[in-house]
Amino acid sequence: MDYKEHIAIVQDWPKEGITFKDITPLMDNGPAFKAAVDEIVEYAKEKEVDIIVGPEARGFIVGCPVSYALEIGFAPVRKEGKLPRETIKVDYGLEYGKDVLTLHKDAIKPGQRVLIVDDLLATGGTIEATIDLVEQLGGEVAGCAFLIELTYLDGRKKLGDNDVLTLMQY
Ligand code: PRP
Repeated sequence: MDYKEHIAIVQDWPKEGITFKDITPLMDNGPAFKAAVDEIVEYAKEKEVDIIVGPEARGFIVGCPVSYALEIGFAPVRKEGKLPRETIKVDYGLEYGKDVLTLHKDAIKPGQRVLIVDDLLATGGTIEATIDLVEQLGGEVAGCAFLIELTYLDGRKKLGDNDVLTLMQY
């Protein structure tokens, strides 16, 4: 499946100098979206994961159908002030900005095998922070899956020895 034909390239958004990869045309296309999710589901099966973790907001869009297909849980990683109960947190650097990510303290049980899912691997800051949160709770990162990887930003460097699946590379 050529997923790239369903990605819209938007120049200078959300600000000048950024070339945004818009996944909404892929989401609009039922067979293409299903094929992409199915590839991640197969990867999750190989890695024998217990739970999916995804950062807001697009990590929810890609991660939740994977969790549904496997009948396993999904734990949301959110920006500060969005999760209602006791959380752990970590600072992270974005491709364009800086923020704090949080995860509910009871979202993952020690020893659980976790698949981290997001739409895009850019600088890797978001996923590095998400791995930190998972490991703070004693989770074992079994793999990280993305629709898109911006290889020129070298995000994989931040992911250490963790196994990575990406469906498209730019
Ligand atoms: C985007 C994208 C990834 C992250 C990738 O999310 O969905 O989560 O940036 O960048 P990185 O590898 O450089 O960290 P964003 O923070 O814009 O949040 P959103 O999905 O809520 O818009």
